Amino acid sequence: MAIPAPKPYIAAFEKLGFGMFVHWGLYSQLARGEWTYLLHKMDMKEYEKLKDSFTAEDFNADELVLTAKNAGCKYITLTTRHHEGFSLYDTKGLSDFDVMHSPCGRDLVREYVDACNRHGILPFFYHTTLDWHHPDFENDFDKYLEYLRKSVEILCTEYGKIGGLWFDGNWSRKGADWKENELYATIRRHQPEAMIINNTGLNARGEAGNPEIDSVTFEQDRPTPLNREGMKKYLAAEMCETINDHWGTGSLDFNSKSPATLIENLCLCRKVGANYLLNIGPLAQGAIDPYQKELLAVVGKWLNIFGEAIYEGKPYGAGSVNRNFILKGEGKLYIFFFNPGREGSENVTAGNSYLGAFAFGNVTDKVKRLYWMDNGEELSFAQKENMLMANFTGQPYGKSFCVRIATAEIEK
Ligand code: GLC
Repeated sequence: MAIPAPKPYIAAFEKLGFGMFVHWGLYSQLARGEWTYLLHKMDMKEYEKLKDSFTAEDFNADELVLTAKNAGCKYITLTTRHHEGFSLYDTKGLSDFDVMHSPCGRDLVREYVDACNRHGILPFFYHTTLDWHHPDFENDFDKYLEYLRKSVEILCTEYGKIGGLWFDGNWSRKGADWKENELYATIRRHQPEAMIINNTGLNARGEAGNPEIDSVTFEQDRPTPLNREGMKKYLAAEMCETINDHWGTGSLDFNSKSPATLIENLCLCRKVGANYLLNIGPLAQGAIDPYQKELLAVVGKWLNIFGEAIYEGKPYGAGSVNRNFILKGEGKLYIFFFNPGREGSENVTAGNSYLGAFAFGNVTDKVKRLYWMDNGEELSFAQKENMLMANFTGQPYGKSFCVRIATAEIEK
């Protein structure tokens, strides 16, 4: 069965490859995750008071966007409103639970979009669909959905062209009629080329939904390859992941991922053509967590060397041992080699890692030349039918790439 061609804006989204997720809201002031209202059984009257201390005085949209850009991210998805119900944008009188009614008094979404546009980063809006604060969510669901649509309409009309909308919360009422058609029609009216994404949650990863949806989601787990044969419309895929164990900042969360894990996860997303949306949780008043900023910078440094393979490479059916895999670009194959061997001395270079001859099956292109992408060192190889045997040298002492990529030039 045929695989449908992606719409141009969906193909463009896939090419972005790597995005930065940002979870920031009133909850950030408590620094114990974005679900603190519910999971710590707080009283809404008490919780609401966080609005009165929200100054956003440390929020610098340019710094946020440049953090993403420096990490090699091509887009950002910002929580314009999370489950707590507080909006980082001017709701134009729809609600007084927004930035304009807090000491902050600035439209932070405008600052964010303007900075994205200044620095060539595509802005996306995360928007909750469930709401712990708005009374209609419990009492008059249809009326609440109208409030939600009007809110989203503001986001689609006030800020120029946006990359897309990322909804989250429909999993909270599985059987309910969320009137998705109406919501998405509102978006299409104003932003025909916006990606529409609706998180299917931890229990339904990779599930397709309403026909207007443009990408499936994999929350906190490696994406599996999508079988697009016979699909009515080509869907992209995106995996979102926390940098530690919380989306919103957590001052006692010590379980941060290492740069190597982040790089590996980015690679494993691209292996199946999915985007990697990596989250950071800014601090109470919007400062970027310095440690998270630094982690992203390390990933950016790796992408400075190997980025071409990440952005240009498309899934390729070759098989191999370990986690090694191949992507295909223009006239090239990119061979991803995990945990590559290191050269050095037995007195200083410790640990097991791989080097030597490795076979890849299902390589249907004829390889002309093979070399490491970082230093151009030529690698010997042999090819027989669809089998490529490549001889990987160790990485020079002084470098440790965790994933190292070799470029294979192929016959046209
Ligand atoms: C979840 C959570 C939420 C987070 C989201 C990001 O569904 O409810 O807090 O924003 O995942 O994927």
